[in-house]
Amino acid sequence: MHYQLDEAIAHIEAAQRPVSFSGSGLSAESGIPTFRGQDGLWKNYRAEELATNEAFQRDPALVWEWYEMRLRSCRHCEPNAGHRALAGWEGAVHITQNVDNLLERAGAETVHHLHGELCLLRCVGCGRERYEYEELASLPPRCLACGELERPGVVWFGEPLPHAVWMEAEKAARACDLMLVVGTSGAVWPAAGLVPLAAQTGAVVIEVNPEPSEVSSACTISLRGTAADLLAEVLLSG
Ligand code: OAD
Repeated sequence: MHYQLDEAIAHIEAAQRPVSFSGSGLSAESGIPTFRGQDGLWKNYRAEELATNEAFQRDPALVWEWYEMRLRSCRHCEPNAGHRALAGWEGAVHITQNVDNLLERAGAETVHHLHGELCLLRCVGCGRERYEYEELASLPPRCLACGELERPGVVWFGEPLPHAVWMEAEKAARACDLMLVVGTSGAVWPAAGLVPLAAQTGAVVIEVNPEPSEVSSACTISLRGTAADLLAEVLLSG
């Protein structure tokens, strides 16, 4: 592990076009649950009842109750040492599956949100979008322009990723010379495909995860440990 850590640090220091690709494990040490695994959200909630358009059509109030609960918990969480280390990584482009905005709150500038953002609301009638950082005045929320229902600005099961964001992410994955893959099981596509894509186009791929993941085999180095511990060590060592 020490040898691997030194090797990872040398690659990171040499990188000219670094990219990070993160999942919910990055925010675990901020107190936000991951999706899979022992205490994962999908162990305790049924995705098809909460994270699909059909569920929203059926019962918008129930869907909003769940998202408002997650929004409230995000508001009470703080970025951890992992977010701060990534945010301070000079020149890095960040691609994340996380909807919690903790990377931005840690000061990161370029963040591509593949799965949307919890604090983004989108009107199902006129499509108007707005960010809401405070508690929602009423549930389910309604569009201030046309009065129609608003939905959470996240990607639900069965929905495509936001096209422009995906194009930017794919471009960054192809162009990078180093990708740091943090806290993702690599179970959800097309997002997970960015890891083999970076590897195939010649990037060094370094994984930070306490457990093996579905994308470990595409990684040059797998560092076993938590995001807060290891990112502070590999990114702030210089
Ligand atoms: P998962 O729950 O699938 O995976 C979390 C990963 O984080 C696992 O590989 C854990 O081993 C790792 N992990 C746990 N604690 C960690 C820590 N402290 N430091 C580093 N890693 C840690 O979450 P995601 O990969 O983010 O999609 O899931 C991908 C997508 O599935 C999510 O964006 C969400 C979900 O359905 C949508 O909502 C569209």
